[in-house]
Amino acid sequence: MSRAEIKSLAQAIRERRASQSFDGEPIPQDDLRKILEAGLQAPSSYNLQPWRFIVVQQPEQKRRLRGACFNQAKVEEASAVIVACGDADAWRKDLDDVINSGLRGGMSESLAAASRESIPHYFTEFNSDQMHGWLNKQVMVAFTHMLLMAEVLGYDTAPMEGFEQDKV
Ligand SMILES: Cc1cc2nc3c(=O)[nH]c(=O)nc-3n(C[C@H](O)[C@H](O)[C@H](O)COP(=O)(O)O)c2cc1C
Repeated sequence: MSRAEIKSLAQAIRERRASQSFDGEPIPQDDLRKILEAGLQAPSSYNLQPWRFIVVQQPEQKRRLRGACFNQAKVEEASAVIVACGDADAWRKDLDDVINSGLRGGMSESLAAASRESIPHYFTEFNSDQMHGWLNKQVMVAFTHMLLMAEVLGYDTAPMEGFEQDKV
């Protein structure tokens, strides 16, 4: 398919497959940005958007990353690797911004006040397994948005959990 052709979402969902290899042809920055922005548009609990995406494109960094991914060749072959992370402190850092943006969007003062109170309470009760599960959910929604936007734009993708987290 020519990259100028844009697939419908229905077609992208039907045709997306995990690629076993990549030709490494550079992806235009504009398209990469569209893919990342699709992730940023994803819904998240309390709108906290606790995802953090790291784009790896330099050959030497991809080579090292491959070493943290059980030597899976596609990490080095792909023109861009997006490392999808979750930030366990997002609710601490971003809550004010999120509530202020809610207020600008029409959230009532009473809901804003209740949220300032209840959200920190909710997260401080979490143990690390609960936080891990919560982050996983949020990040995977954004991750799926990016996979599908890449397919819409005509790019192959390969989701991967075959990596060693500490090494990554
Ligand atoms: C969260 C997740 C992690 C995955 N990790 C790997 C991986 O490390 N290596 C790999 O070759 N494929 C990986 N896959 C790809 C799956 O094997 C693939 O999506 C599945 O077989 C279905 O095939 P399809 O995506 O082509 O429909 C992963 C898929 C998902 C959703």
